[in-house]
Amino acid sequence: MERERWGSRLGVILAVAGSAVGLGNFLRFPVQAVRNGGGAFMIPYFISLFLLGIPLMWIEWTIGRFGGGFGHGTAPGIFQSLWRKNKFIKYFGVIGIFGPIVIFIYYTYIESWLLAYTFFPLRSDFSQISTKDQMIAFLQGYQGVVKNEYFLSILPAYLFFIITFALNLTVVYYGIKRGIERVCKIAMPTLFIFALILVIRVLTLKNEANPDWSPLNGLGFLWNPDFSSLKDAKVWLSAAGQIFFTLSVGIGVILTYASYLTKEDDVLLSGLTSASTNEFAEVILGGSIVIPAAFVFFGPSGIKEVADQGAFNLGFITMPLILKSLPFGKLFEILWFFLLFLAGLTSSISLCQPAIAFLEDEFNLSKKGSVLIFGIVCFLLSHLSVLFLSKGVVDELDFWGGTFALVVFATVETILFSWVFGIEKAWEEMHSGSDITLPKFYKFIIKYITPLFLICILLFWTVQYAIPTFLLRGISQGNLPFVLMTRIILIIIFIALCILVKISWSKKGERFET
Ligand code: ALA
Repeated sequence: MERERWGSRLGVILAVAGSAVGLGNFLRFPVQAVRNGGGAFMIPYFISLFLLGIPLMWIEWTIGRFGGGFGHGTAPGIFQSLWRKNKFIKYFGVIGIFGPIVIFIYYTYIESWLLAYTFFPLRSDFSQISTKDQMIAFLQGYQGVVKNEYFLSILPAYLFFIITFALNLTVVYYGIKRGIERVCKIAMPTLFIFALILVIRVLTLKNEANPDWSPLNGLGFLWNPDFSSLKDAKVWLSAAGQIFFTLSVGIGVILTYASYLTKEDDVLLSGLTSASTNEFAEVILGGSIVIPAAFVFFGPSGIKEVADQGAFNLGFITMPLILKSLPFGKLFEILWFFLLFLAGLTSSISLCQPAIAFLEDEFNLSKKGSVLIFGIVCFLLSHLSVLFLSKGVVDELDFWGGTFALVVFATVETILFSWVFGIEKAWEEMHSGSDITLPKFYKFIIKYITPLFLICILLFWTVQYAIPTFLLRGISQGNLPFVLMTRIILIIIFIALCILVKISWSKKGERFET
């Protein structure tokens, strides 16, 4: 079967940038920066970007295009095409399908809240909310955590979830060019325009009663460096974690997108462009909205508390409260939530694609059949997030699927690419069809520094987070059964994917003798 192709170079760049630009840029990044030393955070952040993020971006674009040449759009086949003699490597590739599925089953639910919140400013009871407690009550009522005057059941949240879920499936059903590319070509420029409008609005805010609480001082609060924070290993780990999350590297999605390129297509400049687009959206736009806005309203002492409450509170509680109080507040609230929804949508469609590509490529299923199977399985699995949101389930999914799997996957793919495939061949493959030539020192970085950096992070992460999480430290008694249930389901998903890989390979035998 002929593989699908991207319609244009701009299309694939915007699709990869769309996968990267997400909630991480507008909510997670500013909170991470404030918590980890302000401007000083940008030192480990940029070091991680240049030694980890950008090399991984290039690696994923390159191996994706390479594997696509053999008809494989997902990591099992791509890894196997890089190391043909090893019969076991394809099972490591399962992480690149497992991770996106696990993220998808909670990400889409959160995305659906954003769609709902885009409409809530039109509700009169939402418009009348003026305190943080009311805002929290509204959110908890919506999530079905409590019944209150705003919501009597989880039904509205469930409806918005179904709409969002169906929207995602519809986009991927239309395919790479007519679905994903088309949506990203519209959503990305729209998202940038909305973000720019919000940045301009925030930077022109004034607090008459406290003139010192200005957006400029808010930017100072975010960017003034606290160099002592650099002595803390956690700050370095947070910076690396943010780079993974924001660039969508290590998940498995970028290689799938790149598998729809042809051998003549450039990967280096395109990869760099999509990473730069994401960085602009994160550092410039993401850094200029929530923190300066919260600073103007809450001042230097209040803002620490706001940042400590985390990204979700900032997005769903603090920001709407701030925007509400402005002239044309409703409009800005709608803009804010719709911007986040678009950022979420362009990321979640990329999370669908690996599993769908796997079914199409390895089982020769039609698009319709693949989307249907993926849709049914993920719809059922999403109920873990919808029904047990307050039971620690999403944290469990996020840790294994959205954090740990990324580091393991990135480490495997990097070593595979630069050591097993071999850096000389790798360098040649990267430059084939390329519009730029990388400086030679990047050969050294990709061969030695990136893998070493990844191994250090993996070891540190395992000791610091994975072992305590595995041993269920810090999980309350009430949440324990739900967390254990989630873990068992995750193990089943992983084993099922391994079995599918085995079946597909035994059915078709060795497929790389082309
Ligand atoms: N890269 C996506 C984000 O930043 C997942 O939200």
